[in-house]
Amino acid sequence: MRIAVFGAGYIGLVTAACFAELGHTVAVRDIRSEAVTALRAGRTPIHEPGLDTLLTRNADRLSYTIDADEAVRGAEVAYICVDTPPTAGGDADLSRVFAVVRSLRDATHLTAVVVKSTVPVGTGARVRTALDRVGLRHVGYASNPEFTAEGTAVHDFLHPDRIVIGTWDEQTAACVADLHKDVPGTIVTLDVESAEMVKLTANAFLATKISFANEIANICDLVGADIVAVTRAVGLDQRIGPHFLKAGVGWGGSCFPKDTLALKQMARNAGHSPQLLDAVIEVNELQHRRPVVRLRAALGGLDGARVALLGTTFKPGTDDMRQAPSTVLAARLLAEGAEVRCWDPLAKLPDTAPWSHVSRSPSPAHSMAEADAAVIVTEWPELLDVDWPVVRPTMRTPVILDGRNLLDPATMKGVGYHYLGVGRSRLP
Ligand code: UGA
Repeated sequence: MRIAVFGAGYIGLVTAACFAELGHTVAVRDIRSEAVTALRAGRTPIHEPGLDTLLTRNADRLSYTIDADEAVRGAEVAYICVDTPPTAGGDADLSRVFAVVRSLRDATHLTAVVVKSTVPVGTGARVRTALDRVGLRHVGYASNPEFTAEGTAVHDFLHPDRIVIGTWDEQTAACVADLHKDVPGTIVTLDVESAEMVKLTANAFLATKISFANEIANICDLVGADIVAVTRAVGLDQRIGPHFLKAGVGWGGSCFPKDTLALKQMARNAGHSPQLLDAVIEVNELQHRRPVVRLRAALGGLDGARVALLGTTFKPGTDDMRQAPSTVLAARLLAEGAEVRCWDPLAKLPDTAPWSHVSRSPSPAHSMAEADAAVIVTEWPELLDVDWPVVRPTMRTPVILDGRNLLDPATMKGVGYHYLGVGRSRLP
């Protein structure tokens, strides 16, 4: 099939590359001319494992443009993958979605318009009305939310647990299912509103699992239990499962913060106070700040202390700094008078505060030289290869706050570190 994909961000590019890999012809449209120029020149503007390979291998089935008319020319399906950032009030900003819909007015040959962007429930109905108004009454509408995670997005797209297709008519459901016919995974067809709700529910539930694990970790610290041992045992219960129970410095990224907030706003707009969700978000915000409290106690104050942040991206395997817990940490440490350095193998550090006041080191060991403490913020595998016994005497005070429980506490203490994990205070 011929597909037009709107948006060349993380979701749009992965969608385009994977559809091309499945044999479809894909035109990608983005309003950022620099992204289009880079893609045309064979450069991928984002880091996502496997994406380069797919874009190169399927180059003859992929094209890039800033022109919406050119993208939809001959396309049977238009996929909307633009971003829906939160407004100041916390609602999702849908202006880019509707700008795409308006740009489709001459695409009368389209069979279906599919929204992949994460949107509040009810957006499909509004898009339907907008399509009708621009003369596309005969074009089907589908919600096809994505569940891919950054760092594994290509694999997740091609090997999903399920493909969720929300429509109001069987013909459009069949069309979207057909696009995925060579993809394994259960196809779930449902109404548009429920499909929109599945996406928000899945992310809110995953965020809830992590906040729950973080709350239990904080209790473990107080009562002398080990969160890693606790969650390993608890996760073996098949009703609970082992995933997303890793305690740490809290969740971040472009999805969980935005989507939990959007769900909360949506609930409030409907007159419901989402108390559990409020707590999930609050626990996470406090978890971002906890390392500062612990470092302040361990170092007897932070004024003039040198702190190294090891890893700054919101998770390993990506260059993405959006809503990264490291940003809150860096800002709080600087506000308390600490000198902050950081190391990260991939991060695209913003040139704004707090990062404009943070120096970047070429290696973890370099960032820790003469430091009073180091915080593992992102569990990059490179940190397992650090020669910790060699680094220790280079530090002014050897405090390691392992915000991801990456290292072995006994080994670290054995080589002389004042080691602090998350929810592991009982360990010798
Ligand atoms: C998340 C979901 O996992 C995807 O299914 C979804 O499609 C995506 O959002 C989206 O809505 O686009 P992503 O944000 O890429 O994917 O990353 P995750 O791997 O889910 O991690 C999110 C955050 O939770 C990270 O900061 C990570 O460090 C943290 N996390 C994750 C924990 O603190 N503990 C865990 O056990 C798992």
